[in-house]
Amino acid sequence: MKLIDAKRDHYRKLAKEQGYRSRATYKLLQLNNSYRVIGPGFYVVDLGCAPGGWLQAAVKLAGNKGKVVGVDTTYMDDISGAHFIKGSVEDESITDEILEYLGGKANAVICDVSPQITGHWSMDHARQISLNYSCSKIMDKVLAPRGNAIFKVFDGDYSMEFRDYLKKKFARVQLRKPSASRKPSSELYFVCLGYGL
Ligand SMILES: C[S@@+](CC[C@H](N)C(=O)[O-])C[C@H]1O[C@@H](n2cnc3c(N)ncnc32)[C@H](O)[C@@H]1O
Repeated sequence: MKLIDAKRDHYRKLAKEQGYRSRATYKLLQLNNSYRVIGPGFYVVDLGCAPGGWLQAAVKLAGNKGKVVGVDTTYMDDISGAHFIKGSVEDESITDEILEYLGGKANAVICDVSPQITGHWSMDHARQISLNYSCSKIMDKVLAPRGNAIFKVFDGDYSMEFRDYLKKKFARVQLRKPSASRKPSSELYFVCLGYGL
């Protein structure tokens, strides 16, 4: 078995054992261990949340004083402690629903959004970055000053332009590839700390 397949199987097995809905959960947990994007009592918004692995992790990290809400175009089964909104990140009116559920602004916005993959890399990359800009418009309306964010990016021509756009909004933006993310995959994560500082 190739090393990358072994790694993928390792996280898939771990997710099954620990009751997480996706291997992706470990990417969020690893990023959070390094940067504490989400802490106890945080209000968290998860954009592109299905099937719900990140939501499950966010519920644990935010604890019983926190609130967690996720948005996706795809239906998913309920997660205890998280509120699900079926909708698109390209529809800015979901902002009202998010704020209404939270009853205040969020402390963290996490985005793992991915379009339907066509296999044409430049098209998939451009579409994913466009979804990230939509997420960041929602973020601008729901994230409290000093809040944090994570954005997954399919790395390509527009990644650094998106990073520069985020850099204008946050005190610190770090580019990371958590070890739970397979090496050959071109996904990277921008970890953004200190909104509006
Ligand atoms: C990689 S999955 C997210 C996995 C999730 N973080 C987890 O741990 O289970 C990406 C998600 O983005 C969603 N998505 C794609 N386009 C969207 C859009 N316009 N609005 C909301 N969600 C979208 C997809 O439906 C998919 O569920």
